[in-house]
Amino acid sequence: MGLDFVISEGGKFGVKLILSLVNNFNDYGGKSEYVQWAKERGEQMQNEDNFFTNPMVKRFYKNHIKTVLTRRNTITGVVYKDDPTIMAWELMNEPRCPSDVSGAMIQVTNILSSVLFCCYKDENHLLEVGLEGFYGASSSQKNPNNSPHGTDFIANNQIPSVDFATVHSYPDQWLSGRNHFGQLDFLQQWIYDHIEDAQEVLQKPVIFAEFGKSGYNASQKNQLYSVVYSLIYRSARIVGVAAGGLFWQQLVQGMDSYKDGYEVILTEPSSTVRLIAQQSKRLSVTPRRFLSKRKHEAPKAKRLT
Ligand SMILES: *[C@@H]1O[C@H](CO)[C@@H](O)[C@H](O)[C@H]1NC(C)=O
Repeated sequence: MGLDFVISEGGKFGVKLILSLVNNFNDYGGKSEYVQWAKERGEQMQNEDNFFTNPMVKRFYKNHIKTVLTRRNTITGVVYKDDPTIMAWELMNEPRCPSDVSGAMIQVTNILSSVLFCCYKDENHLLEVGLEGFYGASSSQKNPNNSPHGTDFIANNQIPSVDFATVHSYPDQWLSGRNHFGQLDFLQQWIYDHIEDAQEVLQKPVIFAEFGKSGYNASQKNQLYSVVYSLIYRSARIVGVAAGGLFWQQLVQGMDSYKDGYEVILTEPSSTVRLIAQQSKRLSVTPRRFLSKRKHEAPKAKRLT
């Protein structure tokens, strides 16, 4: 019911949504809840990575996808799989499978899920994996601290039914031992590498779907936003693969309990809010041909900022 309302409001105000189908982490249940459900029904489980391998869990996840896609919104009357307010489905928020550093487990799950999407003929929406962008073992020198996380930015996004790649960026958490400028140096290379790989290897659009800087030093926050925004714009203005950036996180007044130091409140004027407005304006006049070039996509779901 809550989601029906969010989608209906999004439709009214022209906001497009990316809906995540499950969380890697425990908030809202996450993959560990699925593993727990299967355990309660007698399945042998070692750890929560069994989400990616256990057949009963896979059935639960498929049922969930089916239930969501075929749900009829009680406010708008539109079935989710036909709703143009939903721009894309995300298979999992920040999937990681630490017990398999090759990224192969996630690969298998991706393939299964994309096959499932074909069964429901959801041709009206884009599909993405929800990855943070960590590279597999062969390119792990591009990762923060060179460490693998059980995903492979290239292989996991290469699956044909995946329409665009995602990247998350939290250098302040990943490289907490470095100072601010050391973190920015890493970030610049991280963004650059992903645009380059999306352009040359994947040939798919890439969305910087989460980035941010915690703390209340506005100049540090703005420097981080500027690094992300300028590299996105550099690609977008020549109709490259960079399709936009979504900062973590936008709140409105009165949501104080959600504050985590990363928040931006657009109705409270600040230099960061001005940066966001500036980027949105310059992207809105940028030609956006790349997304509509690929054949199985909804032309409706084209405009991102
Ligand atoms: C904010 O960060 C900048 C750059 O790291 C630093 O020079 C400045 O002193 C900081 N400002 C405050 C108020 O801490």
